Amino acid sequence: MCGQLGYPSSMEEVELRLAETLADGGSAIWVAEERPRGNVIGWIQAAVRPLVVLDRHAEIEGLVVDVRYRGRGVGRLLIQEAEFWARRKGCDLVSLRSNVARQEARPFYEKLGYSVIKTQWTFRKVLEVFRTPDAAGPSGMNH
Ligand SMILES: CC(C)(COP(=O)(O)OP(=O)(O)OC[C@H]1O[C@@H](n2cnc3c(N)ncnc32)[C@H](O)[C@@H]1OP(=O)(O)O)[C@@H](O)C(=O)NCCC(=O)NCCS
Repeated sequence: MCGQLGYPSSMEEVELRLAETLADGGSAIWVAEERPRGNVIGWIQAAVRPLVVLDRHAEIEGLVVDVRYRGRGVGRLLIQEAEFWARRKGCDLVSLRSNVARQEARPFYEKLGYSVIKTQWTFRKVLEVFRTPDAAGPSGMNH
């Protein structure tokens, strides 16, 4: 389903990322299953991360419903679970970023009470990976 979100991934990649995500106390993932077979038909990932510029808030970091099961309330249920979790974590705000190319996402989020507050550019730079993950940076500092 990562492919339906525009991030084609192998099963091994997903398993590794899932294990890392679940080990991170600030993140949570919920899956929607089709009964009685138990097939996964949707998932959502949310996180609460401390930021200097904002009070504690939650971010929806990924959401997708299998194309065959859209329009049946699955996305709404997943959002509700993430919002409930965010409230329990003391957050009074949920934010998310959505590619403007995802035409179906905007009316969905607006229906669920979300508002567009700004548009952004997304930057990316490819880095060379250090052989030893804890190597000191150019300043000699370890982070
Ligand atoms: C966006 C997405 C998660 C919605 O999931 P879904 O299960 O189809 O949504 P729901 O059925 O729960 O819809 C909830 C409400 O939003 C409305 N809605 C959903 N998609 C809509 C659309 N394309 N246009 C207008 N309204 C829409 C529904 O009508 C429903 O309102 P209602 O309960 O009053 O009828 C799903 O379309 C998807 O996975 N899209 C591709 C990935 C994506 O865009 N993810 C978001 C990334 S930021």
